Amino acid sequence: MKLVIGNDHTAVEMKNEIKAYLESKGHEVINVGTDTTDRFHYPVAGYKAAKLVASGEVDGGVLICGTGVGISLAANKVKGVRACVCSEPYTAKLSKMHNNSNIIAFGARVIGVELAKMIVDEWLNAEYEGGRHAERVAMISEIEETGSLKAAE
Ligand code: RB5
Repeated sequence: MKLVIGNDHTAVEMKNEIKAYLESKGHEVINVGTDTTDRFHYPVAGYKAAKLVASGEVDGGVLICGTGVGISLAANKVKGVRACVCSEPYTAKLSKMHNNSNIIAFGARVIGVELAKMIVDEWLNAEYEGGRHAERVAMISEIEETGSLKAAE
C-alpha cells in the first residue's frame, strides 16, 4: 500500500519507528511530519496527510501527535477524510470495518510503540464492510457536503 505518515514534535521517535515498521512490511510511506523536536504545529501535518488521502494519491494515513486528537481534528476538516483516534486495536479495526476510516491516529504520549504497531496492523488488515454501515457513512458525508442532514430534520 501507499501510505502517508504525519506527526508533530511530540511524536518524532514514534513516527520513525512506525514508518520503518510499515516499510518493513512492504508499504511505501510518505512522510509529511516533522523530523525534529522543535515546536511544530500539528495541523500542518494533519492537513498535508489529509489532502493526500482525500485526493486518492495514497491509500491511507497514520497521524501521531501527543494525544492523536489535535492532528486528527485538523485532518477531519478536509472533505472526504475520516480520521479516527484509537488507543487500542479493537477500535482501530472497527473504525475501518464500520466507519470506513481512511486515517488512523494515536498519541505518542498515550501509548507505546508496540501497541501502536498492533493498532496499525489491525487497521491495515481490516476491510470496510459496507452494507448496513454504508448508509451511516453516507450521512456523515451528507453533513460534510451540505452542512445539514435530512434524516435529522
Ligand atoms: C503539543 O503539545 C500537543 O498539544 C499536541 O501534540 C497534541 O497532543 C494535540 O492534540
